[in-house]
Amino acid sequence: MAVAVYPGSFDPVTSGHADVIARSARTFEEVVVSVGRNSGKTPLFSVDERLEMLREVCAPWPNVRVDSFDGMLVNYARACGATVIIKGLRAVSDFEYEFQMALMNRHQAPTIETVFLMPDEKYVYLSSSIIKEVGRLKGDLAKFLPQEVVKALRRKFASQL
Ligand code: PNS
Repeated sequence: MAVAVYPGSFDPVTSGHADVIARSARTFEEVVVSVGRNSGKTPLFSVDERLEMLREVCAPWPNVRVDSFDGMLVNYARACGATVIIKGLRAVSDFEYEFQMALMNRHQAPTIETVFLMPDEKYVYLSSSIIKEVGRLKGDLAKFLPQEVVKALRRKFASQL
């Protein structure tokens, strides 16, 4: 049984992420859901805000903990004692970027495997970016986000007015 790291921006965590966390918790002995830095993105939520939302979402699973990291993912995974990196794979559009990262991570750390998990199909077209766009425009997000995240998003956009 392996320790697995599920890294991501989680800006914010969506029901699609929560679905992947549930699948990971059933599959691995211990899962570390960790907020990392994506150099191509400017986050809406601070790391502390994202961690708080993730803690609430992950509370049902005793073998899942929440953390954050800086620097190379593979170094962090090694420090956690993880042999697996989990990535959620939605549509084909994710594939090329994820494949590139998985192979680069394998080059850096050959003993760590990247495992791709598919969320339920109802979340296949969901992304944090589209959530933020709809949230900014005050659209209905109840089906796509954990309840606490809907509230956090409302508070965030209200404070930006
Ligand atoms: O949810 P995202 O934005 O797709 O997550 C991307 C993330 C944070 C997992 C990725 O950017 C990452 O691994 N960052 C850490 C830095 C790193 O190791 N970069 C090399 C990847 S090949």
